[in-house]
Amino acid sequence: MDEEVYNKYRKAGKIAKAARDYSATRIREGTLLLDVAEDVEEFIRRQGGAPAFPINLALNNAAAHFTPSHDDKSKFQRGDVVKIDVGVQVDGYVGDTATTVEVGTHHWGDLLRATKEALDAAIDLMKPATRLDDVGAAIQRVIESFGFVPVENLTGHSMERYKLHAGLSVPNVMGDGSGSVKLGDVIAIEPFATNGAGRVDGKKSGNIYRLIRPRQIGGKELTALIAHINENYSTLPFSERWCHKYDRKAKHRLRKLLKAGIIHSYPVLKDVGDGIVSQSEHTVIITDFGCDVIT
Ligand code: CO
Repeated sequence: MDEEVYNKYRKAGKIAKAARDYSATRIREGTLLLDVAEDVEEFIRRQGGAPAFPINLALNNAAAHFTPSHDDKSKFQRGDVVKIDVGVQVDGYVGDTATTVEVGTHHWGDLLRATKEALDAAIDLMKPATRLDDVGAAIQRVIESFGFVPVENLTGHSMERYKLHAGLSVPNVMGDGSGSVKLGDVIAIEPFATNGAGRVDGKKSGNIYRLIRPRQIGGKELTALIAHINENYSTLPFSERWCHKYDRKAKHRLRKLLKAGIIHSYPVLKDVGDGIVSQSEHTVIITDFGCDVIT
C-alpha cells in the first residue's frame, strides 16, 4: 500500500480517536442518546471526515449495533454501561475505535479494565505472521483473569477501502481463529467482556442498515432513496436517522427495501445471559516489527 493510502487511514484514525474521546465527555445522566449521536457525527464532519457507520451507543446488556432513530427520546441513566463505537472514513479508508463508560457510577471498573487490558495484550502481539488464533487466546486469558467471559461470537476484523470486514476475523477466544496477519494489513481489534453468557444474539432493529443489492423497484421515492444511499454510504452501514434527513418517510421506505432484499438490517446484539457487556477497540496497521495504533 502506498503512503497516500496510509495517510488517509491515519487521518481517519485520528478523527475517530478524537470523536471517541469527545463522546465520552458528552455522555451524562439525563442527556438524550440522540443528541450525543448527532453531535458526535457533526464533530466528525467538522474535522474533515465522515462517519464510516452510525455511532453505536449500546447500553448495558447490549454489546453492539444500536444507534438512536430520528425520534428516539431515551436518555442516559445513572448506572448505564455505555459502549461507544465510532467509525470514521476518509475517502473510504476507515478508523474504527470503541470504549466503554459508566454513567455516574463506578460499579464496573474491573469489567471495563478487562477489555482495555485484553486489547493491549492483543496489540502487543501484532506483527507480520502473528496467528489470529494466538490473539484470541491472549484476549480470552486476560478477560478470564478478571473473572469475566469474552463474547465468543463477536470479532475484530481486517479492513480495506469501503470494506469494514475485509476477510480476516480477530477472535476474542482461543481455538476460533484462522490465518495470520501480514505487513500492511489494517486491523480493528475489539474484545468484548461480560459477566453473562459470552454469546450475543438479537432480532430487534438497531436502526442500522447496509445496502446489499441495489436494484430498481417500483416508485420514484424508493428509487431516489436507493440512489441516495448508494451515493452517500456505498457499501458502508448507514442509519434510519441519516435517511430521515433526506426523506421524511424513510422509516417506512427502509422497511420496504428490507423486504425486497435490497438492504440488510443489523439487529441489536445482546448477551443471551443478560450480562453487562464492555468493549474496547483500536485500529492498527501492521508494520515491519509490530503495529501502529492509529486510533
Ligand atoms: Co470494529
